[in-house]
Amino acid sequence: MKKDTPFIIDFNNPVWLPTVDELKHCTALPLLEFFCCRSPRQQRTWIVSLSFLSILSLLVYIGYSKHSSKFTQHISFEYHPSENNKEPWQQKQRRHENQRIEGKVFALPTNERQIAVRDAMRHAWKAYRTYAWGFDELEPISKRPSVWFGLGLTIVDAIDTLYIMNMTQEYNQAREWIENYFNMDVNLVDKFNSHFEITIRILGGLLSIYHLTMDDVFMKRAVELGDRLLLSFNTSSGLPLAEINLKRKIAHTYGWTSDLTTAEVGTVQLEMRDLSRITGDNKYENAADRSAAVLHDQAKNDGLVPIFVSSITGQFSGEIISLGARGDSYYEYLLKQWLQTGRKRPNFWNDWIESIDGVRKHLWRVAYSENFYFVGELLGISVFSPKMDHLVCFLAGNMALGWHFRRDLTYLLDMAKNLTATCYEMYAQQPTGLSPEIVYFNLDAESNKSAILVEDNDVHNLLRPELVESLYYMYHLTGDKIYQDWGWQIFQSFEKYTRQNDGYSSINDVRHVDDVQPRDKMESYFLAETLKYFYLLFHPTNLFPFHQWIFNTEAHPLPIYTN
Ligand SMILES: *[C@@H]1O[C@H](CO)[C@@H](O)[C@H](O)[C@H]1NC(C)=O
Ligand SMILES: *[C@@H]1O[C@H](CO)[C@@H](O)[C@H](O)[C@H]1NC(C)=O
Ligand SMILES: *[C@@H]1O[C@H](CO)[C@@H](O)[C@H](O)[C@H]1NC(C)=O
Ligand SMILES: *[C@@H]1O[C@H](CO)[C@@H](O)[C@H](O)[C@H]1NC(C)=O
Repeated sequence: MKKDTPFIIDFNNPVWLPTVDELKHCTALPLLEFFCCRSPRQQRTWIVSLSFLSILSLLVYIGYSKHSSKFTQHISFEYHPSENNKEPWQQKQRRHENQRIEGKVFALPTNERQIAVRDAMRHAWKAYRTYAWGFDELEPISKRPSVWFGLGLTIVDAIDTLYIMNMTQEYNQAREWIENYFNMDVNLVDKFNSHFEITIRILGGLLSIYHLTMDDVFMKRAVELGDRLLLSFNTSSGLPLAEINLKRKIAHTYGWTSDLTTAEVGTVQLEMRDLSRITGDNKYENAADRSAAVLHDQAKNDGLVPIFVSSITGQFSGEIISLGARGDSYYEYLLKQWLQTGRKRPNFWNDWIESIDGVRKHLWRVAYSENFYFVGELLGISVFSPKMDHLVCFLAGNMALGWHFRRDLTYLLDMAKNLTATCYEMYAQQPTGLSPEIVYFNLDAESNKSAILVEDNDVHNLLRPELVESLYYMYHLTGDKIYQDWGWQIFQSFEKYTRQNDGYSSINDVRHVDDVQPRDKMESYFLAETLKYFYLLFHPTNLFPFHQWIFNTEAHPLPIYTN
């Protein structure tokens, strides 16, 4: 695998995607921009046409050929003489074989903060490797593995973080495991697990590391998994069933309800669509589109939807509306699906912006006395609850990302800034500097209570990423260093109160610095998301330009396509 050129090719739509450096180079001369921002194939077409044009065109052509020769020398043609020797996943790939296959390179950390984050990643990885290798997650206090999917979750979820942090040795260990031991036919896998969690963590992890390295091993695994995940979509409603047994290849609804969760059925489309784009096989994308259409076609309350959906009819169910648990990433993926498909499908944008306007109208409030803006919940028609899950903090970054593509909608950035500030306070006001899982807000201007209230049941911290994720967007979209400084404070709190001799642990009490009560769990998303977003936040430039990349809801970067 060649790794010497820092740009990637979108295999489905052969458009060359420049990196920041390439882009600078690319836009240096406006006239050249048009030519060099093309795929190699388009460039070749242009070479032919231009050679027949006037002297002026000829001058442009000379400049252009200089650039294009730089690109074409990296194109590797890999024709395979016999299709019959190939596995099905390889045959699907053949339409892409005349294009360059290369990875993206990440250099070493550039500053003290990034080095500290990488050290944290090393510490987490080393403990996992020592005590839980090949199992899903580490119990860092008892120093033993825990099993969930039976698929080496921490390895698959964290491998792109290892790669981005240039932890080559650890990356190679992870790659080797995925190549040799990732296996859905072992007994550990023989149980029902969340279709959504497997999609965002395992399929998302495989797809993103495939895009970063262009290493076929990951595509092969992604196809094996995607083919089984597809079984969940074989329903009359078109929505995927909640749980799947990958070994036995059967799916069903949750045991406790025939309802599905809105966030779960609305947060698998980026991954399935991407799988179709890299394989050229539309079946995954068709399932994604069908399920997205079921959600789009229904009436909504100013874009807001209940957190449950009937698995039988596909209709929304109940009256609870929340941008937190069970609702959150449905909204997140509306914007990101619009971006993934090249901003060509207005339904996604319309549903997203309508939902943000619904948030403003029904859920956006200010708490006293510190004037913190927050997003509450609806427990029934017009029954407002001033409760906010830490999960909702993702919405700040999501709104800022939407603003980036519609700069005229300044209220998006305004809300994003206010919500980020509130979420930061959820951390800063606790003695440990870490946020509780859930907070309530004081709506009574007369009372003497502080704006943020915490109940005894909600004082745990699960190493969650949502605010760090938003800080990453806020810093790279506004350039305001305050977001890096807030992130650095929070990172130090994680170091102080969640770091163990071996790995990191979620904790039970953010209020007591002397007794945080580790929960004995190192969540895979701490490596996949929290540490990755810290690292990207502290990088001086955005390593994943927003017009080229989107992150799935598990922080796995996926490319943006042209349609
Ligand atoms: C890691 O960084 C080194 C030094 O910048 C570079 O040569 C190498 O290609 C990088 N590795 C990866 C996998 O990006
Ligand atoms: C889909 O379900 C139907 C019955 O509900 C079954 O006959 C069919 O084989 C299933 N298709 C796949 C691909 O599993
Ligand atoms: C954001 O906060 C500022 C300062 O408190 C306030 O003036 C503004 O109205 C808020 N914007 C929104 C959309 O709530
Ligand atoms: C409000 O609380 C502050 C301290 O938090 C206290 O000094 C003050 O007396 C209180 N005022 C009222 C009216 O309760």
